[in-house]
Amino acid sequence: MKPGFEKYIPFQPQKIVGRTWPDKVISKAPVWCSVDLRDGNQALVDPMNLDEKLEYFHTLVDIGVKEIEIGFPSASETEYEICRELIEGGHIPDDVTIQVLVQAREHLIKKTFEAIRGAKNVILHFYNSTSTLQRKVVFHMDCDGITKIATDAADLIYEMSRPAIESGMNLRFEYSPESFMGTEMDYAVEICQAVLEHLHATPEEKVILNLPTTVENCMPNQFADMLEYFCKKLPSRGCAVISLHPHNDRGCGVATAEMGLLAGADRVEATLFGNGERTGNVDMVTLAMNMYTQGVDPQLDFSGINKIKEMYERCTKMPVGDRQPYAGKLVFTAFSGSHQDAINKGTQYMKESGTEYWEIPYLPIDPADVGREYEPIIRINSQSGKGGAAYIMEHDFGFDLPKAMHPEFGSVVQRETDKVGREITPQRVYELFREEYLNVDSPYRMLKHTFAESTDREGHSHVTFWGTLRHTDTVFQVSGEGNGPIDAFFNAIKDEKMSHFTFLDYKSHAITDGSDSQGVAYILLQDQRSGKKFYGVGVSHNINLAPLRAILSAINRAKQAEE
Ligand code: KIV
Ligand code: ZN
Repeated sequence: MKPGFEKYIPFQPQKIVGRTWPDKVISKAPVWCSVDLRDGNQALVDPMNLDEKLEYFHTLVDIGVKEIEIGFPSASETEYEICRELIEGGHIPDDVTIQVLVQAREHLIKKTFEAIRGAKNVILHFYNSTSTLQRKVVFHMDCDGITKIATDAADLIYEMSRPAIESGMNLRFEYSPESFMGTEMDYAVEICQAVLEHLHATPEEKVILNLPTTVENCMPNQFADMLEYFCKKLPSRGCAVISLHPHNDRGCGVATAEMGLLAGADRVEATLFGNGERTGNVDMVTLAMNMYTQGVDPQLDFSGINKIKEMYERCTKMPVGDRQPYAGKLVFTAFSGSHQDAINKGTQYMKESGTEYWEIPYLPIDPADVGREYEPIIRINSQSGKGGAAYIMEHDFGFDLPKAMHPEFGSVVQRETDKVGREITPQRVYELFREEYLNVDSPYRMLKHTFAESTDREGHSHVTFWGTLRHTDTVFQVSGEGNGPIDAFFNAIKDEKMSHFTFLDYKSHAITDGSDSQGVAYILLQDQRSGKKFYGVGVSHNINLAPLRAILSAINRAKQAEE
């Protein structure tokens, strides 16, 4: 970096004695408030139109968000109309509270009261900026002047709210000392306490104090210190709901929210996928799912994340990144061989152990919990190893390859990915498997075959095999006996220049369910002359035939290797 950093003023951390937040854990969901339709919307290149806002609103309701900031109705006619349509169009369920934002200015407050007429549950959210910087460069006012803006607004709001409350509206208040993070904490306490008093807050009629990192300017632990200090010093803490409103300028919005909860906050204002001014607001999905993966019910439903993402991208015209936690296209995908291997082993472990917990390395969450169970977890490129190709063969095509075969097939796949220099599809993995193991009928090919089976007096079974084989252009007959089809076939081909192969291992299973089930056999042979081992694979509806095809496949592969 070129010099330039000297012009920045380092954040001055709040001194705090005996902080307690680092020893706490998040054990319950906060009250969630969505600010998508206000903070998120005001940051869009093209703000949402009525239809988009309505669709977005209904999605938030379906997710389970109970407090939704719908806009800034005094800011424009469009915002006002949208607020009226939500109320008059009957879109707001009885258990959902709409929140409207307004600056601490008289005419805007009056307009806002007009906009919320007829609504059942409302939070009226007003704000003014309190930071040292804003006081100096924007307002040219001292603290008393700034406090007066807030308390005058509080008086007006309290007075105007009486008739609305008497007419049955469940009206609550929220105050934001905007740019809280740049405000001296003792002054933040002073102005917030004054607002609580002017709004007649009580433990029964709490006022929400929303403490934003309007611009994120410090580390999450420093913010947590500020918050703990603020909560301890606020005389009427019992009359307030402490709310967070983290922005994400340093990329720490989620950590700030999490540590803020540890430090005493009760509520979080957030947006889906972190839309919002500049680098965005804190991401509600990540926060909620982080709780979920710690065994805490977030009280929000993200079980259909792809649908939510699709709605979000359409309405905001902004993409959700491929690496976005929980929602990004690639976040459940492993390309790297060692990750694939561990995922494979974890999946196996889950199946075999019957554990009730989610215990798969590299997958912090079960993709099914966010409705992503049908997406490929393992994808194959040149970084992938033996486990990945085997995983694809099992999950996409039903072939449960013997463990010892994984490295061999892995290198077949690796050769291909190195050759093409890009990702290959599961279908291509299957084609490689077929070319390498299933369609190997040269130099030997079985043209016809018959088995006869009998059981002797002791109950031992005897099988006789007769077959017609072709070796390049020569067709010949073979026959042999044994205690089973594999033994009989082996004995039959022993004298046909194949006696140097010995049988090492065998595995078989069905690959399709129901009556159409096919059997697959994996055979491992060793060429005694070279000591080399060769796998062969055979598939057939006839369970006797699959292993014979596998033997010929192994022998053909050995012969081809020789050539
Ligand atoms: O970021 C912020 O400070 C805000 C306030 C209006 C709450 O959006
Ligand atoms: Zn904001």
